[in-house]
Amino acid sequence: MASELPIGTHLDSDSPANLRAEKLNRHTFWCGQSGSGKTYSLGVMLEQILLNTKLPIVVFDPNSDFVRLGEIRDDATPAAAAELAQRSVHVLHSKPGDGQQLRVRFVDMDIRSRAAVLKLDPIHDAAEYNTMLRVRDIELPARGEPLVDLLRNSDDPAFHSIARRIENLGVVEWDMWAYDDQDVTAVVHSRPDATIVDLGSFEVKEQMQTAALAVLDDLWAHRHDRIGRLIVIDEAHNLCSPSPGTPLEHLLTDRIVQIAAEGRKYGLWLLLSTQRPSKVHPNALSQCDNLALMRMSSAHDLEDLARTFGYAPSELLDRAMTFGQGQALFAGGFTAEPQLVQVGTRLTHEGGSDVAVPLR
Ligand SMILES: Nc1ncnc2c1ncn2[C@@H]1O[C@H](COP(=O)(O)OP(=O)(O)OP(=O)(O)O)[C@@H](O)[C@H]1O
Ligand SMILES: [Mg+2]
Repeated sequence: MASELPIGTHLDSDSPANLRAEKLNRHTFWCGQSGSGKTYSLGVMLEQILLNTKLPIVVFDPNSDFVRLGEIRDDATPAAAAELAQRSVHVLHSKPGDGQQLRVRFVDMDIRSRAAVLKLDPIHDAAEYNTMLRVRDIELPARGEPLVDLLRNSDDPAFHSIARRIENLGVVEWDMWAYDDQDVTAVVHSRPDATIVDLGSFEVKEQMQTAALAVLDDLWAHRHDRIGRLIVIDEAHNLCSPSPGTPLEHLLTDRIVQIAAEGRKYGLWLLLSTQRPSKVHPNALSQCDNLALMRMSSAHDLEDLARTFGYAPSELLDRAMTFGQGQALFAGGFTAEPQLVQVGTRLTHEGGSDVAVPLR
């Protein structure tokens, strides 16, 4: 295992470029406009983390871009292919039929998150909210049966209103409840080298948000275990909005901002990837000590970055305007000094590369 992660070649000299694995114990911001190669390049770095470290990775994958991270390309060098083949990449799919499905256990979720799923307010819906606090008691003897059936068949009429709420909101139809299947948090706890939480095929946005929140809440609840983990959130604007609207969005943003502010000492290290700095909450952004910047043609966004990431030299930030695909500036703790890099080639398959225009 090496502390140097080969990431590509230097733009100006063609010499090998590396990142420092030991400085992944910081938060990282990964930024660039659409098509600049963020997801592809992130994949290159994750492959190198898999090859060279024992750092468990959890990827929140809203476009199913990383579902093939365990599948090695034919053109990978035999040595890398043999090494990567020994790593465990556990993919939890949001689409039925693609492999193990992503499952969430409602009764194990944080009470505030459960209330947000059911649109319950602790003051306005005081009675129902209070019943919610007791839902766990009713479910525990009979794991595996649909919760809504247990609630409906309960002798306590208070539970019937929760059952109605679950049905009325359509939550019962979300094809992701665990019943007696293994849920996503159990997979994360089993500590594969990488867990891919595929969020790409859910019918409604709330499902994606609920699944992500279940995992983030659980990681936070177990923070005292102090297991170093890299928590990768691609398209981070989905989960860490600067202007959350719904209760679920508030909880997600609050949780990520909390992990950004306090998670480092517990070994919860974020990697947030998005197109523009203004798309994620500033209190998460300001905690990032590592920056990967890909093509960015907006002068305004570059000024934002210069303000937030004082450690990135402005003359190098400006080069981002002329970057081609796969070119990046790395700055901050995970690089010995700021460097301009042509990111290397993937060793594993991309999940969802661009759709090609059909030609005649
Ligand atoms: N270094 C590279 N070598 C070869 N192909 C690349 C490289 N970087 C990106 N691509 C290809 O370019 C396309 C866009 O890249 P990618 O999906 O990584 O962009 P992105 O910055 O994540 O965009 P978005 O913000 O829209 O998600 C993909 O089809 C990918 O396969
Ligand atoms: Mg992308």
